[in-house]
Amino acid sequence: MVIGPRYAAISGWGMALPERVVTNEELARRLDTSDEWIRSRTGISQRYVAAPDEYTSVLATRAGRAALERAGLPPAAVDMVIVATCTPDRPFPATACTVQANLGIPGGGAFDLAAACSGFVYGLSMATALIKSGMSNCLLLVAVDVFTHLINWNDRSTCVLFGDGAGAVVLRASAEPLGLIAANLGAWGEGEMLMAVDAGGTRLPLTPDLLQTGRQYVHMNGREMFRHAVRGMAESAEQALAAAGLRFEDVALVIPHQANLRIIEAVARRLGLPLDRFFVNLDRYGNTSAASVPIALCEAVEQRRVQAGDYVLLTAFGGGLTWGSSVVRWG
Ligand code: UT7
Repeated sequence: MVIGPRYAAISGWGMALPERVVTNEELARRLDTSDEWIRSRTGISQRYVAAPDEYTSVLATRAGRAALERAGLPPAAVDMVIVATCTPDRPFPATACTVQANLGIPGGGAFDLAAACSGFVYGLSMATALIKSGMSNCLLLVAVDVFTHLINWNDRSTCVLFGDGAGAVVLRASAEPLGLIAANLGAWGEGEMLMAVDAGGTRLPLTPDLLQTGRQYVHMNGREMFRHAVRGMAESAEQALAAAGLRFEDVALVIPHQANLRIIEAVARRLGLPLDRFFVNLDRYGNTSAASVPIALCEAVEQRRVQAGDYVLLTAFGGGLTWGSSVVRWG
């Protein structure tokens, strides 16, 4: 029982990837594209693509189990499961309920959160609020997307960009000032169609005719998304840092959403920071949507680029439009 100010310390972390790697060369063999174009325009060399039996809850469960093991906690300790995803197993029920069952978590709440590529950053704020309010003592947050299910594999302007994966953290109530210290969340609904899957919901239900139009696949205005992403991540990172009362010099590492290396470079330039202060792994994974930030966080921790007591700045941007940044004290 935590008495006094409550914080939500990250006490476990884990990630999961599908087995199959698809290289740029493989895509270039069946599409009008090239390894050179993909690498120079995006920084991506390969991505992991889920098999039919590696659907969302399967990857989420693997990442969640790894995070619980790392935290040294039994499933029964968890009283809340949040799954941040825009590619759930089914329209309903929530994939979080499936993950709860798969992990043998005996009770508590479970729900999904849809904020596209900003899902982990949004989820961290919701999770921390639940712990700070006393509604949860130990929470599993999984961010997962199997975006390759939404892709038209004949559309070279989108299919080369995305990969699948899951990342998870366990948050526990703590009296020490650890975990999320300050955050900034934003959305601009007017930009909803800059990146969307138009059909398959209640607005445009799937029909055999509609399937012929390709509107069940993700479409994106890449140039506009690029522009909004740079501004959204840079401004929200500055605001979150100011809310924490910190300067960029105080931050050990910036972990940005991994959509495009050129976006990360432009954010770094805009903030006046060298690129080596940013964690980059999109060359191996592509854009894994909600999973991109927690997968990068897991790797940064394993590579010891984040140590106990360090401040880490997470920043993300995605469809919605949504964006957000989190200042996290690691420990
Ligand atoms: O996860 C959050 C949301 N996503 C993003 O933030 C993504 C943001 N956008 C981007 O990363 C970039 O805009 C892309 C990587 C999607 C595209 O890069 P770009 O430099 O903006 O290229 P473009 O869309 O302006 O296309 C340039 C050319 C076009 O040909 P023309 O019209 O100049 O003849 C495209 O048809 O490149 C062509 N092109 C390709 N060529 C080879 C587009 N995709 C490909 C491809 N291979 N895969």
